[in-house]
Amino acid sequence: MIGYISFIVISYLLGNISSSYFISRFVFNTDIRTMGSKNPGTTNAFRVFGKRAGFLTFIGDFLKGTIAVLISTYLANRFNFDANLARYIAAISVVCGHDWPIFLRFKGGKGVATTYGAMLVIAPLQTVASGLFFFISLFTTKYVSLSSMLSIMLFPILMFTVKDLSGLWVCLILSAMVVYRHKSNVLRLINGTEPKAGLGSKKKN
Ligand code: G3P
Repeated sequence: MIGYISFIVISYLLGNISSSYFISRFVFNTDIRTMGSKNPGTTNAFRVFGKRAGFLTFIGDFLKGTIAVLISTYLANRFNFDANLARYIAAISVVCGHDWPIFLRFKGGKGVATTYGAMLVIAPLQTVASGLFFFISLFTTKYVSLSSMLSIMLFPILMFTVKDLSGLWVCLILSAMVVYRHKSNVLRLINGTEPKAGLGSKKKN
C-alpha cells in the first residue's frame, strides 16, 4: 500500500512543475495565470508568449506525464508491485498535480499535454492515433479546446476497441478531468465566444 501511495505522491509532485508558469516567471517576469485565458498551459503560452514558449510548455508538460509513468513503472517492477496499476495511478496523479498544483494554490492547467505524455507510455499507438485526430479536428474546427477534449475523449473508445478494460476506466477518468477543466471553454463554445486558433492576441518572441 505504501508503495502505491509513494507513486501517487511522486507523480502528483511532478505534475506540480508547471512549464508555462516557470517560463512566464523566469523568462517573461510575469505570471501566465494573469494573462490571456489565464490558463497555465500550452495554448495560452502560444497565445501570450509566442511559438517558442508555447512549444517549450508543451514539451515540459508532456514530459512530466511520461516521466511520472516511467518512474512508477520502474519502481513497481523493482519492488514487485503491479506495474499496470502503478502506471494508471501515476497517470491520474500527475494530471491531478498539473490541474490542481499545491505549490500554485491549486490554480493549474487543463491537463491535455500531460495526459498525452502519460498515455504515450501506457498506450503508444492509441496516443499517436489520438494526436492525429487532434490535428485533424484542429484544422477542421480551428478550436484548440474542442479538439483537445474530443481527442482525449477518443482514448476510452480506442482502449475499448483493444479490449483493455482497466485502461478504459483510466481513460474515462482522464477524459472526465480534461472536460471538467475545460468547463469555461465549453460555455464559450456554446455561446460562440471561444477564440479560434490563430485569431487571438499574440506576442512575438
Ligand atoms: O489545453 C488547453 C486548451 O484546450 C484551451 O486552453 O487557454 O484556450 O483555455 P485555453
